[in-house]
Amino acid sequence: MKVTLDTAISLLLKGDLVALPTETVYGLAARVDCVQAIENIFKIKKRPSFDPLILHCYNKKQALNYFFKASILVHKLLDAFSPGPLTVVAKKQKHVSDLVTASKQTLAIRIPQHPIIRRVLQQLPVPLVAPSANLYGTVSPVTAQHVMQSFSQTLAILDGGPSEQGLESTIVYPDINKQKLYILRPGMITKQDLESFIKKEAPDLTLETQAPHSFQNAPGSSSSHYKSKAPLYILKTDHNKHKAQNFLLQKFPKHKHKELLLDASPQISARRLYAQMRDLSVGDKSLIFVYQNQNNSEGLWTAIWDRLHKAASGFYDIDNI
Ligand code: TXA
Ligand code: MG
Repeated sequence: MKVTLDTAISLLLKGDLVALPTETVYGLAARVDCVQAIENIFKIKKRPSFDPLILHCYNKKQALNYFFKASILVHKLLDAFSPGPLTVVAKKQKHVSDLVTASKQTLAIRIPQHPIIRRVLQQLPVPLVAPSANLYGTVSPVTAQHVMQSFSQTLAILDGGPSEQGLESTIVYPDINKQKLYILRPGMITKQDLESFIKKEAPDLTLETQAPHSFQNAPGSSSSHYKSKAPLYILKTDHNKHKAQNFLLQKFPKHKHKELLLDASPQISARRLYAQMRDLSVGDKSLIFVYQNQNNSEGLWTAIWDRLHKAASGFYDIDNI
């Protein structure tokens, strides 16, 4: 059910859930201090309780009330990339509920950029926890319609149009003792963006693209997530599309094969990706395939391929079959 900005704010104030637009994907939001609403998020998303939530704050000042003695590095990361699609994980304050952090000692915070969620956050006395507004393990929503497809008619949704960026935020964990900045989930802020940040603001730091051991079973980073309704297959080939077609036809003769076409611009591809995965899933026996070649692996492509590989039911290296 679509609601106005004022209704969304009053629902959140009294402890209800509201789906809100962000620049990355739509989120399913609740007040951080409302245990019952947070429990309800886990329930309606069918999300396991071991998967922690991201806290969405209006500004750095508010964020710092939820981190325990934030390091200078955390300050610098927030200054450099907020508001925007960067989520920072650091030690949490005691008053943050275990429900939010899945009993971890760390908390993930981001300061979103979308003007609508910013208007909501500005009007509320506390920040909002908000996972993506989809059922656990499935494709994230980038329009209000997508949110409506996953939940009951009664869920309040504030429609802010299609998400401009289309992929989830990058999640980082700065470890000052080890002088390392870990990328826990690739996203809209690229490795290159973080490298430039380090060069300028923290030259002694090393960037790690592998999560440290203690973070490795975080669900967003599990090997199967973001699943489309139709099975998706990745065909890796540099110049052998014909062979790939034949291979797929032989393997899945009864399916309707549909190609997911990526744009040459990774920004455009990211923006379209989740809607394409949904659209191509429509109909009986649909099967989605996408070609991967060596040209598109850098920058924002890392996040795009991370999601596609997690969504995929199979990966075939055609040139080496
Ligand atoms: O762009 C986004 O980040 C979107 C929009 C709505 O803000 N949110 C989002 O939330 O993608 P969600 O719940 O779908 O993914 C959050 C992921 C979790 O699955 C987990 O991997 C990671 O964030 N996370 C949250 N808290 C963490 C923590 N304390 N330590 C490590 N990872 C954490
Ligand atoms: Mg999610």
